[in-house]
Amino acid sequence: MTGDLQGRAVVIVGGTSGIGLAAARQAKAAGASVIVVGFDPAGAERVATEHGFAGWRGADVRKPDTITAALADIPHVDHLVLLAGTFVAGKVLEADIDHLRRAFEERIWAAINTLRTLGERLAPNGSVTFISGALADRPTAQGTAVLAAASAAMEALARGLALELAPRRVNTLSPGTTDTPLLARTLGANRDGYVASLAERLPLRRLGTAEEAGSAVVFLMTNGFMNGETLHVDGGSRLV
Ligand SMILES: NC(=O)c1ccc[n+]([C@@H]2O[C@H](COP(=O)([O-])OP(=O)(O)OC[C@H]3O[C@@H](n4cnc5c(N)ncnc54)[C@H](OP(=O)(O)O)[C@@H]3O)[C@@H](O)[C@H]2O)c1
Repeated sequence: MTGDLQGRAVVIVGGTSGIGLAAARQAKAAGASVIVVGFDPAGAERVATEHGFAGWRGADVRKPDTITAALADIPHVDHLVLLAGTFVAGKVLEADIDHLRRAFEERIWAAINTLRTLGERLAPNGSVTFISGALADRPTAQGTAVLAAASAAMEALARGLALELAPRRVNTLSPGTTDTPLLARTLGANRDGYVASLAERLPLRRLGTAEEAGSAVVFLMTNGFMNGETLHVDGGSRLV
């Protein structure tokens, strides 16, 4: 059964930029009432106004009290999407431990806190979508082991919660490298060179777009038989 998004209440944490914003725009186009949550409240308000979303909130997903405050007045959520996160890089033997811990705080603990905050307000016939990433399967030697572990943990958490929160569906989107503001922010002046050399090695000779990843989020929300799954939208990057 494929669900209709018409009139559905969708909350996208991390919906103010990149993949989350693309998913928010597509869900709204399909008739959903979308609330976006971002780290920067002013940015969230600007984005929500620009795209005509039903609402916006500012919160730091690493701080449970800010999540509680942000979601306090939302009576009902049909589809919850948790995409907020940063590129946490650093080698295990070298990096600051609080920095590395951030990978799990933004993902695992943020998801647990958000779900506990919403509780029974999450519709029984609704869905939850997490984010992981190709790193979960293909980590690199350049300080991505902890982020890879946090990403893989999201996939495992989704499988467990698909049972624990049933009949709600819980899935994970695993994108390959996707051209979003995160990439530009992380790489700075090296962005163009990195993108060109990575693209050469990929089967499709290009990175993914936020729209492609966003449409996979909408698919996970609306396909009523997708459950406990990790959906890879990576252009085949794991094959090379
Ligand atoms: N782009 C990729 O290649 C790629 C690949 C695999 C996985 N991912 C994952 O996909 C997710 C989205 O990535 P993206 O590329 O779309 O990034 P993006 O454009 O930087 O968007 C990130 C979103 O998360 C929000 N956010 C970040 N930290 C937050 C916090 N502590 N509390 C609340 N909101 C927070 C941001 O809000 P503000 O705009 O207000 O900061 C923004 O809405 C991330 O978790 C990322 O790790 C990305």
